[in-house]
Amino acid sequence: MENFKVLIDEKRLDQRIAEIAKEIENDYQGEEVVFCSVLKGAIFFTVDLMKKYNGLCEIQFVRVSSYEGENSTGTVTLKIPLKKENIENKNIILIEDIVDTGRTFNYLVDYVKELNPKSIKTCVLLDKKARRVVDFEADYVAFDIDDLFVVGYGLDYDEKYRNIPYVGYVQK
Ligand code: IMP
Repeated sequence: MENFKVLIDEKRLDQRIAEIAKEIENDYQGEEVVFCSVLKGAIFFTVDLMKKYNGLCEIQFVRVSSYEGENSTGTVTLKIPLKKENIENKNIILIEDIVDTGRTFNYLVDYVKELNPKSIKTCVLLDKKARRVVDFEADYVAFDIDDLFVVGYGLDYDEKYRNIPYVGYVQK
């Protein structure tokens, strides 16, 4: 396996995710939430967040794709849809691994709104604000990062390196 530089180590991930879980708990005050995890990248983050979340919650999955290798294709395609009965009248928290151009989240928020949730918020592990092409700001952001291509903790390069336990990058 290639040698990656550590951008965010396991301890920092752990601490920050615990803070986000608390923030969400405070915002929902005992109301049930549905963590809607965007496959595949957000699974590690979603699972760790849920384990730290002390409240009533469910998990659902949705899958879209827009990336090939290091490049966004610009078009978001729905690969695994949500079921309306799992979303309607519920407090949805959409969870993504990273916001880059903002296209994926923009698409997903519109998609979820069509399923009539009670409320919708967005939560992201990594935010690459410098790369935005559409206006988008997540409600919960664990870390702002520079314009680097990152892997690990769920994030891939051509489907590989998701299993690295920290967020890393290749120094060019
Ligand atoms: P956006 O639609 O451009 O905001 O891209 C979001 C999606 O692109 C994420 O869910 C990731 O799958 C992928 N992505 C963006 N940046 C990176 C990166 O640095 N490493 C791995 N995947 C990335």
